Amino acid sequence: MNLETPTSTAALTDAGDGLLRRIQGGGVRVGIIGQGYVGLPLAMTMAEAGLDVTGYDIDEGKITSLAEGRSYIDDVSDEVLQTHMQSGRFRARSSFDDLADMDAISICVPTPLSKTRDPDISFILAAAREVAERLRPGQLIVLESTTYPGTTDELLLPVFEERGLAVGRDFFLCFSPERVDPGNLAFDIHNTPRLVGGITDACTRFGCALYSTFLSTVVPMSSTRAAEMAKLLENTFRAVNIGLVNEVALMCRKLGLDTWEVIDAAATKPFGFMKFYPGPGLGGHCIPVDPHYLSWILKTLNYRARFIELAAEVNTSMPAHVVDLVSESLNEDSKSVRGSRVLILGVTYKANVSDTRESPALDVIQLLLARGADIHYHDPYVPHLQLVAGPALDSCPLDAELLSSSDCVVVTADHKAIDWDLVAHESKAIVDCRNALAGVESPAGRIHKL
Ligand SMILES: NC(=O)c1ccc[n+]([C@@H]2O[C@H](COP(=O)([O-])OP(=O)(O)OC[C@H]3O[C@@H](n4cnc5c(N)ncnc54)[C@H](O)[C@@H]3O)[C@@H](O)[C@H]2O)c1
Repeated sequence: MNLETPTSTAALTDAGDGLLRRIQGGGVRVGIIGQGYVGLPLAMTMAEAGLDVTGYDIDEGKITSLAEGRSYIDDVSDEVLQTHMQSGRFRARSSFDDLADMDAISICVPTPLSKTRDPDISFILAAAREVAERLRPGQLIVLESTTYPGTTDELLLPVFEERGLAVGRDFFLCFSPERVDPGNLAFDIHNTPRLVGGITDACTRFGCALYSTFLSTVVPMSSTRAAEMAKLLENTFRAVNIGLVNEVALMCRKLGLDTWEVIDAAATKPFGFMKFYPGPGLGGHCIPVDPHYLSWILKTLNYRARFIELAAEVNTSMPAHVVDLVSESLNEDSKSVRGSRVLILGVTYKANVSDTRESPALDVIQLLLARGADIHYHDPYVPHLQLVAGPALDSCPLDAELLSSSDCVVVTADHKAIDWDLVAHESKAIVDCRNALAGVESPAGRIHKL
């Protein structure tokens, strides 16, 4: 990006000048707080670009694993991790003692919902306090966790200002949302444009300078709030469109139409339509959670975010719809859900990843268990599954015996590694929530599509 923005003509303070020289001179030391799905891949990308990176996490297990060169994130291989550890460009810490040595600090901690489904920003605040305790002139702090507009300027800024330093002069604060899509082979951190909004113009400038050292496209924004809102728009857009297409699946069923044929046909229009597919419900850490951050902040302003509420209503009803399809399928063989052997294929929230967080397959399993089904599952990415309110299950090896002995097979995640021909040719009855069997010729049993 071109750093000669109008803001760059402003005179730099000594603190800012030193920071910019270190960023542009290649000697910048970066600390990344939170070494999960976002923080670890970011650390690897920065280390790859030659930056000196320290990863911090309160989870001792993760720090030990990293120190031993074992990655727990699908998109980061052990080889890449070990390369950066051995070169000295990356190290992992559970203590924050050396945070003051860092020139730039990224905060990549979780932003879940509380039990009452309100934003839980306690992880962000805890990380910010660790930074504030050690804040020194010349540091750049970037919040990357997804959150509601106003978090950076209303909550984080006062925590840092308590130290008596001035933002935009002594230290610099930005919001820059992470957009990583785990398992996406086409887009990764390198080729996904990065938004950066600072508290002041100087903050934006330094944030952009940092990300420009290892990313091709950096987009400066007018404020931290605009950047926070842009991220929520992206994820709300997905949640609402998935809600729409899930409702289209319900409508197609009533009309006796094949949802997937209808969507693929609409998608032949080269403009004005974007393809989304239905599924057994929303999953993952972002799409089911983030829109609630937006609706929550609007509730405080006496405004109801209607699209978000409606999409959530449709999306959360999908696991029950899947159970109805299972029940219908068993009924055709004069069987009840109670006592039937049901095989769940794929328990992760989407294909080709090992993440089961908020996975709708878990809701489907819980609902079927509650109706007395005898549940088994197969997932090449998840050898063991501990249900929140239920038993611990082990993944069964997928073979003809497992499939033919099941009264109904439910496809909840369409992993490439599953032999779909075998599934189609050995199963008596299938509820396919992902259109995974679309390409299979002459399946042996009945297939109910979503
Ligand atoms: N996972 C994704 O695909 C994705 C994509 C874009 C944005 N995000 C957002 O990024 C943020 C992080 O998500 P994630 O998926 O990486 O979460 P994660 O749970 O995988 O990782 C977060 C890590 O932070 C650590 N942590 C918590 N509190 C800490 C503290 N005070 N100090 C140090 N470490 C701490 C946790 O132990 C954990 O290892 C969230 O706001 C999320 O919404 C996630």
